[in-house]
Amino acid sequence: MEITKRFDRQVAVVTGGSDGIGKHVAKRLAAEGASVVIMDRDTPATDDELRQHRQITFQAGDVSHEADVIKAMDAVIAQHGQLDIVVHCAGIVGQNSTKITEVECETFDRVYAVNLRGSFLVTKHAIARMINRDYGRVLLFASIAGKEGNAGMCAYSATKAGVIGLTKSAGKEFAETGITINAIAPAVIHTAMVEALDPWQVTYMTDKIPMKRCGTLDEVAALSCWIVSPEASFNTGAVFDLTGGRATY
Ligand SMILES: NC(=O)c1ccc[n+]([C@@H]2O[C@H](COP(=O)([O-])OP(=O)(O)OC[C@H]3O[C@@H](n4cnc5c(N)ncnc54)[C@H](O)[C@@H]3O)[C@@H](O)[C@H]2O)c1
Repeated sequence: MEITKRFDRQVAVVTGGSDGIGKHVAKRLAAEGASVVIMDRDTPATDDELRQHRQITFQAGDVSHEADVIKAMDAVIAQHGQLDIVVHCAGIVGQNSTKITEVECETFDRVYAVNLRGSFLVTKHAIARMINRDYGRVLLFASIAGKEGNAGMCAYSATKAGVIGLTKSAGKEFAETGITINAIAPAVIHTAMVEALDPWQVTYMTDKIPMKRCGTLDEVAALSCWIVSPEASFNTGAVFDLTGGRATY
């Protein structure tokens, strides 16, 4: 019997796919049949395991720059002729373990540009390339910080709250099409992003998780891949919880 893979003949863009959550999601999408284009400001190392997947290619770009986003999306259409899935993982934390009175305006603006303007640009230019086929799956990454506000992370928390608003708004705008726009709001998943945080900040966040552990990359990839699969057809504008019980709403 022929085994069908969920993403056979589908084309996916994963931003921030050179590392962390995006890298794991990219590998799972490719393993399940998708052609995956990673858009990241950093090129994965030449000997990286990502290179072993023939269906994964790389497009350099900064998600906060509109010209880079357009160039990457156009390159995907030129190469593959279609765009089915976007998983937008590129994001930064900026200053942490820092009260708002000590946060520099420039660093706030940079976190805004990557996390919120980047989410806006990627969503806008992805949908524009999905609409002609009346099918698409856009998945953004918010955070528990956007739902609850983490002390010490005002720029990150504010921009992730913005991602939640963007998801709800865009989801409703395209609800009568075959395109869904959803988000995941994780608690703590061990990646380079978390390793770079101040230890006080990591303890603050992990102590609030009722399951008393961090989420795993496999858990994030499993939920992400379901949300961007054809099966997930009655969810849009939704923010999926992935917090080990911290946010039960
Ligand atoms: N790890 C967690 O605990 C956690 C929790 C909640 C939400 N998130 C969110 O999940 C997403 C992925 O996080 P992660 O932990 O994998 O981070 P990470 O730092 O491990 O990886 C982020 C990737 O994004 C890329 N990137 C950063 N800025 C970019 C830009 N301007 N343009 C293009 N690429 C850029 C980096 O090069 C890197 O490859 C982020 O949006 C993050 O805010 C993560």
